[in-house]
Amino acid sequence: MHPEEQVLATGGVTHVVRIGDTVRRPVRPFTATVQEYLRYLCNAGIGFVPEPHGYDGQGREILSFVEGEVPVEPLPSWATSDDALGDLAQLIRRLHDVSVAWEPPRDAIWGTIPGTPSTPVPPLFDVPELVSHQDYCPGNVVFRDRRPFGFIDFDLARPTTRVADCVNAAYWWAPLLHPFDRSPSLSDTHGVERLRLFADAYGMDSRQRALVVPLAVQRSKNSLITMRAAADADPVFNRWWKEGMEERLQRAERWLAAEAPRMAAALRS
Ligand SMILES: Nc1ncnc2c1ncn2[C@@H]1O[C@H](COP(=O)(O)OP(=O)(O)OP(=O)(O)O)[C@@H](O)[C@H]1O
Ligand SMILES: [Mg+2]
Repeated sequence: MHPEEQVLATGGVTHVVRIGDTVRRPVRPFTATVQEYLRYLCNAGIGFVPEPHGYDGQGREILSFVEGEVPVEPLPSWATSDDALGDLAQLIRRLHDVSVAWEPPRDAIWGTIPGTPSTPVPPLFDVPELVSHQDYCPGNVVFRDRRPFGFIDFDLARPTTRVADCVNAAYWWAPLLHPFDRSPSLSDTHGVERLRLFADAYGMDSRQRALVVPLAVQRSKNSLITMRAAADADPVFNRWWKEGMEERLQRAERWLAAEAPRMAAALRS
């Protein structure tokens, strides 16, 4: 092991270490595609994603370390402020506006969560509009001065739509979770109001606003199916599933179905 090697993550999906101002992550089938995407973003002036630097002698990918703070659960109040949510939406808007011009290589390989559902889940959109991050969980957002600064961990980056990518971020940060499952810094009232705040800060048009709620409802149904398959296929997902993921996803689905009319109205108003 390199004397300066500092382990950043081992318990979850990826063994990640830091060496100086770089991060080393295992090479997976999708790594080259993600590095091409990150290279495109960096060349296009996006300064808030890791810069790709190829591979090291131990067969790991090298990325720049994005300085800042990554919030952990229970989320501190600075991470769940309305100002932070607005900044997050605007960062995603910038990412989208640049990503939209990127043509992925023909032999692109995209990361997926493990497992194959026994019945295929309905797609969230017909035609992708762009490649984007698609996994804005708190562990993948770097804050500086208590405001979102950038994104790391593009392992699930893939062709998507602006609204589908925004719904992923809203799930984590509005959040689109049952109040029981939210960090204490997020109250019962937050999900619906903050979904509207996110749409406003992103600058969604009326067509996009109309798509948000149906897509969020479908995503939540799909998540239960895909995560159950992941839990069947992979020990890490199995542990998360048994440690409460199943109940959390079920509660989120019921909460979303009940709140959907109010959410749609808030987005329209
Ligand atoms: N380029 C980076 N800059 C700054 N911090 C990073 C970077 N890459 C990883 N980290 C830190 O390491 C943590 C885990 O890394 P990452 O999100 O890339 O992997 P992961 O697949 O989510 O790992 P796990 O599931 O094991 O947590 C991040 O939450 C962050 O704290
Ligand atoms: Mg991560």
